[in-house]
Amino acid sequence: MTSTALSVKNLHKSFRGSLFESTKVAVNDVSFEVPLSKVTGFVGANGSGKTTSLKCILDFIKKDSGEVRFFGDQVLTPEVKKRIGFFPERPYLYEFLTAAELLKFHWDLAGGGSGHADAIDSVLKEVGLLEVRDRRLRTFSKGMLQRVGMAQAIINRPDLLILDEPMSGLDPDGRFLIKEIMRRLAASGTTLFFSSHLLHDLQELCDNLVIIDGGKILFQGPFNQLKESLSLNPLMNLEEAFQILRKKNQVQS
Ligand SMILES: Nc1ncnc2c1ncn2[C@@H]1O[C@H](COP(=O)(O)OP(=O)(O)OP(=O)(O)O)[C@@H](O)[C@H]1O
Ligand SMILES: [Mg+2]
Repeated sequence: MTSTALSVKNLHKSFRGSLFESTKVAVNDVSFEVPLSKVTGFVGANGSGKTTSLKCILDFIKKDSGEVRFFGDQVLTPEVKKRIGFFPERPYLYEFLTAAELLKFHWDLAGGGSGHADAIDSVLKEVGLLEVRDRRLRTFSKGMLQRVGMAQAIINRPDLLILDEPMSGLDPDGRFLIKEIMRRLAASGTTLFFSSHLLHDLQELCDNLVIIDGGKILFQGPFNQLKESLSLNPLMNLEEAFQILRKKNQVQS
């Protein structure tokens, strides 16, 4: 039995600049693993390469080089895609649809077949939006839209759920609700891999961290291991440890 939900080896992605700009290396020889049935945080400052890595991993944009494998040694076939859910950084939710209609659309996209009515109501209940299932999305608040985004990502009951900044822009109540949903999914065995620069949330939720800076991986492993490797006070929080790790890396490079 495999113990890896996602394995990334030597991933490289650069963007060609315009006429007077040089090529920008966004993801530089990135390798890491996401263990199965664990919560892994993808940690990095703005512009560090998180979204670009996720887009390459899911084949939304073409990588320059590198290897991406799912659930052991599988490439991203349609069958493997069915086992993965994705919450994008800026979810595009058709605002003229109702919550239930949007989820039906995603259910069909995922090849869900019959049984959609129960699946939609069950997922809406899970994210606390069952009462507003027939309201158009244009009347939803940012927090409600974020929860609809979460519902579309989990409607196919993925084994691996990848989320790009699921808590960004939310107030404390909104963040709490999203974190509750993530905790429940993790408790039921779903592997979570999510990017964030909200270090407090990451420290609270994650078993494991992948830290990226300037397109390069600085660390992967549990937070305690990071503190041990830097000989830090065991009570230090991720915010402080992250700054120390970045400074150490800047001095070395
Ligand atoms: N389509 C693109 N064309 C050119 N440069 C890009 C493109 N997409 C991303 N970049 C650059 O690649 C680098 C990494 O960007 P990316 O969006 O992956 O960072 P991020 O870690 O997701 O940041 P954030 O926390 O702000 O979401 C940045 O310097 C960004 O400007
Ligand atoms: Mg991003």
